[in-house]
Amino acid sequence: MGTHTARRVLVTGALGQIGSELTLGLKDRYGADNVIATDIQPDTKKKLSGDVPFALLDVLKIENVEAVVQKYKVNTIYHLAALLSAVAERKPREGWDINMMGLLNVLDAARANKCSLFFPSSIGAFGPSTPQDGTPQDTVQRPESMYGVTKVAGELLCDYYFKRFGMDTRGVRFPGIISNGTLPGGGTTDYAVEIFYAAIKERRYTCFLKQGTSLDMMYMPDAIKAAIGVMEADPAKLKHRNSFNVTAMHFTPEMLAAEIRKHIEGFTMDYRVDPMRQRIADSWPNYMDDSAAREEWGWSPDFNLAAMTEDMIRVLGAKHVQGLLS
Ligand code: SER
Repeated sequence: MGTHTARRVLVTGALGQIGSELTLGLKDRYGADNVIATDIQPDTKKKLSGDVPFALLDVLKIENVEAVVQKYKVNTIYHLAALLSAVAERKPREGWDINMMGLLNVLDAARANKCSLFFPSSIGAFGPSTPQDGTPQDTVQRPESMYGVTKVAGELLCDYYFKRFGMDTRGVRFPGIISNGTLPGGGTTDYAVEIFYAAIKERRYTCFLKQGTSLDMMYMPDAIKAAIGVMEADPAKLKHRNSFNVTAMHFTPEMLAAEIRKHIEGFTMDYRVDPMRQRIADSWPNYMDDSAAREEWGWSPDFNLAAMTEDMIRVLGAKHVQGLLS
């Protein structure tokens, strides 16, 4: 990775599933004085405010975005504040407003203050007419969820700011992210997180996606690695910018259940399919081709299904013993 001493980073949505762990990863890499966490909610549980400076920020208020960028003299923004797929599908207008207007505000504040910008796109940027097996980097993108509409538009908008204004915008298309810190806030891939909590607490889980639904997934340490890696990549080597396919594994619910059963004897799973989330999942890739990220900036994940499952159960099992599993 390149030089990193001069980075000063602002994170939006820092109390969310990815933000709460990425912020700490950025702190480890750039130092506590060089990372500023922001969220629309106060950090009542002190997830981050003991570690890095914390400021309240509603990304829909552009003057507040600019004020915080200037106050902390940041030069890099990780813009994670957004609604996930299931929530945006239930509240499409809010999904559009938060995901698009929030991004536009952050882009303009970043441009005015010469900041680099990381934008997380998603497997949700693909749709039913996209090739589902080995989904290429450059392919048909006609998503049918509001979340997907905002992710494709976000990718295009970031490319536009790069080409038109020379801004350093970069991003990845994240798959479902599996983590043991903060729970995801209403996505289609959430089952792959919930299943671990249920397996440890009750040895049983009712899955809202049906058997055979294959989706790309990634363990949080790899998501942090991808988010930092793409921003530190040598720009001369980048043919793409927004957004790189990145994946670490893909599986169906029954494959994940079988892996968990290797550690938790007697674990059982049944199904109660949520038609809305099933429709969304069916329109997303079975697995993506992430060779462009591998070639252009050396992407390679550390956790496969077996390693992720073992680590999730170790961490959540320890929390359960201490009575810390909500
Ligand atoms: N985990 C996300 C979601 O389900 C995918 O981008 O919304």
